[in-house]
Amino acid sequence: MNFTEETATDAVLASFAGTPDPRLRQVVSAFVRHLHAFVREVEPTITEWEEAVQFLTAVGQRSDETRQEFVLLSDVLGVSMLVEAINARLHTGEAATGSDHRTPLDVTASTVLGPFHVVESPHRALGDNIDLVGGHQPCVITGEVVDPDGSPLAGATVDVWQCDEDGFYDVQAPDTQPLGNGRGLFTTDDEGRFWFRTVVPRYYPIPTDGPVGKLLLATERHPYRPAHIHFIVDAPGHVPLTTHLFVADSPYIDSDAVFAVNDALVREFVEVDDPEKAAGYGVTVPFRYAEARLVVRPLPKALPV
Ligand code: BEZ
Ligand code: FE
Repeated sequence: MNFTEETATDAVLASFAGTPDPRLRQVVSAFVRHLHAFVREVEPTITEWEEAVQFLTAVGQRSDETRQEFVLLSDVLGVSMLVEAINARLHTGEAATGSDHRTPLDVTASTVLGPFHVVESPHRALGDNIDLVGGHQPCVITGEVVDPDGSPLAGATVDVWQCDEDGFYDVQAPDTQPLGNGRGLFTTDDEGRFWFRTVVPRYYPIPTDGPVGKLLLATERHPYRPAHIHFIVDAPGHVPLTTHLFVADSPYIDSDAVFAVNDALVREFVEVDDPEKAAGYGVTVPFRYAEARLVVRPLPKALPV
């Protein structure tokens, strides 16, 4: 049979029909169908197709152990957050522990990790200040880690990282920030609580010096993320959670370049003038304050063998 525009998709699908692994067969077949549909819709010229290949080549060439341009591409195309949303739906129902009659709490939404996480954040005591530079308005974050029936989870680690008030992570500004600035690994107390002092982070652009940046420029999309603090929560017996808290009044809160904002993750960072409260937290007035209740899902029960 001739390979023609009409027979192309069926011919390629047939070539993969004998794939032994059913999941791989499903994935490859769906990829071929959608890619062929895309090409049929766009009808690229030979030059345009070469440019597409060059673009993907440049994305690969910009990726190594410290820079992952393919993840960034997935982020700006909304694929990273779509995968998160699909997986959250697939796990709905596991959230309910069924241990009592209370309505289970919604598990905190999972979001993209981003490129600025470091493998080992500095260990910190509850209440420590992760702003190692000083000179800015203080901010206090208090939180708790709970399971879906509201039970506090003691001994959970809460890994925190954020940029400074100028929108730079420590690794981006080694001349002005000591390594570890804006980072901390905390452990919840007996009541599942944690707290720390910091500064309110600023909105900032995702890395734009690679092919993804060129794509944003050519499509007149801005590269900014609204101000946020990242968290990874790891509680014994629970699924690790990667999430953010967003600053409600931040620019770009309605147009995050990587689509991670979800109303339930947005917090008012209120200004507090009360000197007694300030003294209790070891900060000066006025300070900013936000709360974070992080709800994690129990690990699925192992099936009996
Ligand atoms: C971040 O928030 O650190 C981030 C997330 C995705 C892409 C770029 C940056
Ligand atoms: Fe970030």
